[in-house]
Amino acid sequence: MATEHTAIVLPTLPYGRGELEPYMSRETLDFHYGKHHKGYVDKVNALIAGTKFATASLQELVLESDGGLFNSAAQAWNHDFFWSCLSPRRQSPGQDLTRALETFGDSNSFQVQFEKAALEQFGSGWAWLVKDSAGALKIVTSSNADTPIRAGHIPLLTCDVWEHAYYIDHRNDRSAYLKNFWQLVNWEFVTANLQGTSS
Ligand SMILES: [Fe+2]
Repeated sequence: MATEHTAIVLPTLPYGRGELEPYMSRETLDFHYGKHHKGYVDKVNALIAGTKFATASLQELVLESDGGLFNSAAQAWNHDFFWSCLSPRRQSPGQDLTRALETFGDSNSFQVQFEKAALEQFGSGWAWLVKDSAGALKIVTSSNADTPIRAGHIPLLTCDVWEHAYYIDHRNDRSAYLKNFWQLVNWEFVTANLQGTSS
């Protein structure tokens, strides 16, 4: 039976491509969002056309597909979430989030531990702050396209540590990229994810 193809859409960025400067350049956004992220979305659409997944949502694809389709769908989902984790408006964790982060000591200790996990992720992947099924906050990493929503975790924050995230601004220096990442974190989004109120 022919199934109508509902295209997965490249989400509009919640800020202009130059608005994350000086911490993340417009050129990085042009490549990372405009080419890499778009490439994953285009690949998903090419792979699902004419298949049983043609009308699936991106989240359904991440949860139910395997192989190359999973890799592209998960990368599309992860990047959508990543861009929402950034903001051009400098923020700090609010009271509720600060209290929740005390599970890591305090919010500074959380940042140290998250950054260490992100640095030690071997090769391409992602660092995450997640809420597990028991409601505990944890720092986890995933390799390549893998994503914690597949394990039933609720992501609160992520940092993309694929080299394509930082090669333009920092060459191979992941540590310098992570230092700038903290200047851009959208703590209001993280808090909304913690409270289950993000859209
Ligand atoms: Fe990326």
